[in-house]
Amino acid sequence: MRIAIVGAGRVGSTLGRRWTGVGHSVVYGVRDPSHPRHRALTGSVASAAQATEGAHVVVIALPWAAVESALVGLDVGDSVVVDATNPLAANARELTAHPELSGAELIAGWTGSERVTKAFNTTGAGNMADVAYPSAPSSRPLMPVAGDDAAAKQVVIGLADELGFEAVDAGPLSASGDLEHLAMLWIRMAYTLGNGPDIAFALLRR
Ligand SMILES: NC(=O)c1ccc[n+]([C@@H]2O[C@H](COP(=O)([O-])OP(=O)(O)OC[C@H]3O[C@@H](n4cnc5c(N)ncnc54)[C@H](OP(=O)(O)O)[C@@H]3O)[C@@H](O)[C@H]2O)c1
Repeated sequence: MRIAIVGAGRVGSTLGRRWTGVGHSVVYGVRDPSHPRHRALTGSVASAAQATEGAHVVVIALPWAAVESALVGLDVGDSVVVDATNPLAANARELTAHPELSGAELIAGWTGSERVTKAFNTTGAGNMADVAYPSAPSSRPLMPVAGDDAAAKQVVIGLADELGFEAVDAGPLSASGDLEHLAMLWIRMAYTLGNGPDIAFALLRR
């Protein structure tokens, strides 16, 4: 699958390296493709417009403050769009105030896409790099995926499964706010309450 990742920071570069490792073709959409720091990336580098052209999947992995300006005018076509962002306030400890819409729903509006999904926002980049929990060998870290387009959601569930997550359908795109609040809980537990970024949520079944 050809995967465009807009934003090559901690989340973007980690997902790109992992997906390249399982055989996908990854191209990063960045502001300055010639910048030397991109040489360490696994995959190719282009402008966001070049990267997303013809991509099966477009992953948004930008700081929230950059998302709207990066997406307005970007043609994502029929690509499956994955919103991995969290609409964090400047203090990174609370969500920005969008009383009615989640970040993912705002992204659906900015891209004009009905194939937006919310995923990869509820755990840390370190857990995306290494999903193994040897102390809980029968559990995989949870990766909830929300979205309105069933086929798009199945693509994203498959991509998360390939990385070792337990990917589950978390409902329609309107459930994305719940995923963003779950991310805030993870941030609070990891950083404010001192459990560290190696913690991950898991789903137990009986
Ligand atoms: N870090 C985590 O553990 C984690 C986990 C889940 C979700 N998230 C969410 O994922 C998103 C990305 O987080 P991150 O930690 O990966 O951020 P990061 O390490 O700060 O990387 C952000 C990337 O975005 C790029 N960027 C900034 N403004 C841009 C623009 N206008 N156009 C194109 N690229 C731009 C930066 O490029 P330059 O190098 O050019 O500055 C950088 O490569 C955030 O919304 C965050 O809340 C983060």
